[in-house]
Amino acid sequence: EKGGYEYFMLKEIVEQPRAVADTLLGRVAVDGTLTLDEMRLAPHELREISKIVIIACGTSYHAGLIAKYAIEHWCRIPCEVEVASEFRYRDPILDRQTLVIAISQSGESMDTLMALRYAREQQSRVLAICNVNGSTIPRESDGVLYTHAGPEVGVAATKTFLTQLVACYLVGLYLAQVRGLKFGDEINTIIGQLARMPEQVDKVLQTVEPVRELARSLADAKTVLFLGRHVGYPVAMEGALKLKELAYMHAEAFAAGELKHGPIALIEDGLPVVVVVPSREGRSVLHDKIVSNIQEIRARGARTIVIAEEGDDSVRPYSDTLIEIPAVPTLLQPIVATVPLQVFACELALAKGNDVDQPRNLAKSVTVE
Ligand code: F6R
Repeated sequence: EKGGYEYFMLKEIVEQPRAVADTLLGRVAVDGTLTLDEMRLAPHELREISKIVIIACGTSYHAGLIAKYAIEHWCRIPCEVEVASEFRYRDPILDRQTLVIAISQSGESMDTLMALRYAREQQSRVLAICNVNGSTIPRESDGVLYTHAGPEVGVAATKTFLTQLVACYLVGLYLAQVRGLKFGDEINTIIGQLARMPEQVDKVLQTVEPVRELARSLADAKTVLFLGRHVGYPVAMEGALKLKELAYMHAEAFAAGELKHGPIALIEDGLPVVVVVPSREGRSVLHDKIVSNIQEIRARGARTIVIAEEGDDSVRPYSDTLIEIPAVPTLLQPIVATVPLQVFACELALAKGNDVDQPRNLAKSVTVE
């Protein structure tokens, strides 16, 4: 069943182009029209939405954080993202015009389920993004968008995360289409780029060998820091989470702009810092700011591991290791930027002799609050 791999996780990482393609399948027409059959929310209902609230846990929460950037930009609907376990305990403001999106791979996370029940009691419409057919969360939601990653056996979410991103983008683009916003150029271009993501992920997988070598060389590190900006910030958070759960290593992500407000004091000689560099398209200001961050930390001794789009020569002089990813539109960059981080955490954990399919103390679905 492991298809010749020693661990399911290794197989599941490699399956990602297929998982992404299957999640797009049948949903994107050649002319760019999107069809989301099981959404079960009529266009007139979608036009009335005044706010979106995304609830999720762990890796699914990171997908939600990325979705916020895309949805607000494409749809101009205010979008909040909250860890499900915090959500219902603070008396959140919800109403009929609020669309709640519950993201859960398993469809059984108790925290997410309780949050969605709470939202329904407040009359909000709930859309589930889920990988397991017929699981509790989609059954209790008004509509569902299934990710078609196939069964994920490894406890750490990999291919389901990439497909959650695809599902979130589809929801955002569909809302933009239905609401007639920015329809035309930008939305159509993005839909075309999204359809090409399976090949882009495949390209990344063909070039990750140096990431494995790098990971093995860091097996004795005590801490790894991750920096990102814009959608690269949740990607950094996801990289740190993978490292904690698989390699049992302390890891922390910061928004690169926050560095000077405190975390830069942590930088010392030899400290590995992974930096996710924003794509240059459309966000060149952020790109340049992060390049200065890389210079700053390197001047203080950090060992810089830089993930940047191919051909971005501006980062080369300050990168101890440069990991190149394909150039894609900024909002879609998390799909390609996450893959090297998954490989990094997995390989580092293997170098430490850990079981990457069954990390200690963790369960694949968390059915207690
Ligand atoms: C991390 C991981 C967990 C889950 C979280 C939510 O690799 O797997 O953080 O993402 O427990 O699970 P779901 O998505 O099933 O609700």
